[in-house]
Amino acid sequence: MTDRPLSETVLEGLAERDLVVVSNRQPYAHNRDDGEITVSRPAGGLTAGIDPVMQRTEGTWIAWGDGDADFEVAEEGRVRVPPDDPSYTLSRVELSETDLERYYYGYSNQALWPLCHGMIYPVRCDGRDFERYRAVNRRFGEAVVEESDEGSLIWFQDYHFGLAPRFVRQEMPEALLTQFWHIPWPAPKTFAVCPQADALLDGLLANDLLVFHVAEYVENFLECVASVLSEATVDREDGTVEYDGSTTTIQSFPLGIDAERTESLASESGVWTDLAERYGIDGQTVALGVDRLDYTKGIPERIDAIERFFEEYPGRRGEFTYVQNGSASRSEIESYEYLQQRVDTAIERVNRRFGTATWKPIVRIDEMLPEEELYALYRHSDLALVSALRDGMNLVAKEYVASQVDDDGVLVLSEFAGAHEELGDGAVTINPFDTQSFAEAIDRALSLPTEERNERMAAQRRRVAEYDLLTWMNDVFETALACETDREQSVSHV
Ligand code: G6P
Repeated sequence: MTDRPLSETVLEGLAERDLVVVSNRQPYAHNRDDGEITVSRPAGGLTAGIDPVMQRTEGTWIAWGDGDADFEVAEEGRVRVPPDDPSYTLSRVELSETDLERYYYGYSNQALWPLCHGMIYPVRCDGRDFERYRAVNRRFGEAVVEESDEGSLIWFQDYHFGLAPRFVRQEMPEALLTQFWHIPWPAPKTFAVCPQADALLDGLLANDLLVFHVAEYVENFLECVASVLSEATVDREDGTVEYDGSTTTIQSFPLGIDAERTESLASESGVWTDLAERYGIDGQTVALGVDRLDYTKGIPERIDAIERFFEEYPGRRGEFTYVQNGSASRSEIESYEYLQQRVDTAIERVNRRFGTATWKPIVRIDEMLPEEELYALYRHSDLALVSALRDGMNLVAKEYVASQVDDDGVLVLSEFAGAHEELGDGAVTINPFDTQSFAEAIDRALSLPTEERNERMAAQRRRVAEYDLLTWMNDVFETALACETDREQSVSHV
């Protein structure tokens, strides 16, 4: 990560307290592969974003040990990571098959995930799943109590832990609790679908600070509290909620990336030619899509738009290649399995309709590429197609921008991704539901005059570099520490 220091306030604050991070997904998994133990890193923005923060601040990260050799290499569940240069402790929680089925595949990913993304159709708020979600939240809460003391700064990540803060608060009334919600928060009418709405809000309001990516999610959250919890007092101006005798601050800070590191990885040369040859990427113009295979990412919608693009602009055939780098995700859930089939069928159809003996319109890469290859792909792609139907932020958009060291790429970005708030000005904006205008937008993006392309990209790169991971960390931690000061002052005034 960048070697700029954290702010003085944060350094002082963290010198006095341990940082304890809690997430469902762990940053490193140990697995047995042909008898050998190997270490892997998961797909998804959360762990990639938080790991450099942990390396900076040392401390403890509590997460589900999902690797089959995780508990073999750990002592009482604890292991030092990163494996090649250990700087913090990963404390693993073991989950049973039923925990996984009901807490992870069930309530987290079939109730909260679609609900928060405003996709009502796949939502399943089964009371049994919720009971197990509650039990697992309690177990994580117990792990927090074991790994920390009242002086720690405890930092929950995401929708897997809607209830854990309340359990910790009951055991450690003075602890400083913060949560970052990595996905959107829905409008009140959407949230009203959830039978456990009040319990979730009660859990989340045990935090001193609750952070979302953008202001819209903060507003939605405050509206949900106002409509569900009659005993809560919501101050929309200050972004605070008084509830159960304490105050929670609700703020937005958009997660950033380590732009310096991304730029330097993208600047390495020599990787691209091999990669392009290995996968048969032979168009003069390249567009990319990088995602977990998730129905919120708008992947079939993107492929439909590419198909329309080849219909409308036949001159592009033979010279434009779209690279789809998607890693399988949550495959045990029916809606994900169905998505994977849709994507397979759509890619085959486009390749069959338009491919030639020497050129493939869509090249798919199903493996997770090593970093240097991924960044070479970013850098050499003329366009990035980020077509999320709804997305908390979308760090791929930021990684693509930071990789444009020659300022010559164009970001085609969905208006429904959180990243649009920061990068919308320089991007070619699309509505992924509108196939025809999406196809036209691809053509427009490819036809932008060089000067305009460079200007747009340079401005976007400045934004991504200025509001990077370090700035975000400073904002989150400074605000958390300020919440504690406010709490102490209000106690002394009673
Ligand atoms: C999103 C979520 C993360 C999650 C990641 C990968 O980015 O916000 O919490 O870890 O997806 O999903 P998975 O279910 O594989 O952990």
